[in-house]
Amino acid sequence: MTYAPFDLTGKVALVTGGNRGIGLGMARALAASNASVAIWGRKDAANQAAVEELSALGTGDVRAWSVDVSDEQAIIDATAETVSSLGRIDSCFANAGVGFGAPSFMDMDTETWRKNMAVNLDGAFWTLRESVKHIVERAKAGDPGGSVVGVASLAAIEGAGRNQAYAATKGGLISMLKGIAVETARYGIRANAILPGWIATDMTAAAQGADVFQTKVISRVPIRRWGTPDDFGGMAVYLASDASSYQSGTTLVIDGGYSIF
Ligand SMILES: NC(=O)c1ccc[n+]([C@@H]2O[C@H](COP(=O)([O-])OP(=O)(O)OC[C@H]3O[C@@H](n4cnc5c(N)ncnc54)[C@H](OP(=O)(O)O)[C@@H]3O)[C@@H](O)[C@H]2O)c1
Repeated sequence: MTYAPFDLTGKVALVTGGNRGIGLGMARALAASNASVAIWGRKDAANQAAVEELSALGTGDVRAWSVDVSDEQAIIDATAETVSSLGRIDSCFANAGVGFGAPSFMDMDTETWRKNMAVNLDGAFWTLRESVKHIVERAKAGDPGGSVVGVASLAAIEGAGRNQAYAATKGGLISMLKGIAVETARYGIRANAILPGWIATDMTAAAQGADVFQTKVISRVPIRRWGTPDDFGGMAVYLASDASSYQSGTTLVIDGGYSIF
């Protein structure tokens, strides 16, 4: 028999950037554990493909919305639509992200800084704020509990040369989540950050194609391979489930041991 809390029947999970990459890996496990899943991403075709794939995995309802998380009003509207369509949001995974670097820190222009901020930090702020509002309202009506998660990065805690803007968004996300954890614990909300290491997705396509990266970086991953989106499924189910009801304010590193070697 499956460990009972990992059956997410009746729970609704929202995954931003859930149409591919790490978000889709988390959404697959959530759907397979019978959660209803809301996917937000910009590209309709990718959203629809994700809905088709995820709908076949479990008993929950899977729907997608075309949302650009750098647009505050779009997030406010999509949160309301998600709640009215799926009934509630129990867990929110602020995962949508972009990574724009520069040839050097001295060359990093304001546009690069703002492009990272707009999606990774503004977008996560609005996404988390709207989900927290909904969960707190529900708690005040007598139905407490929820889990909010931000997908940060090892870049937040290790030096990320030529990627200072990206790293700053992820450090800010971790700090934001810790503040949410303290303030909303009374409503039964937990807030945690996931810190991926080197994961094979579209975001790292250039690095995956570079021999030098393979020999100098991936060779230093103790588990000796790139991470995959599905490596994030177990953590997503755990954080969406009541099994994690005493876990809050933490940073959960999933990196094949890279950061401790
Ligand atoms: N891959 C890694 O090695 C790695 C390491 C550390 C942290 N991370 C973090 O993990 C998260 C997921 O990354 P990934 O590697 O899975 O990247 P990915 O494969 O490039 O996927 C990015 C996802 O975010 C969505 N997205 C991007 N901009 C968006 C916007 N403005 N509005 C709504 N959705 C948007 C994309 O969907 P649309 O294009 O349809 O909008 C897509 O679903 C990111 O926050 C990233 O910073 C990744």
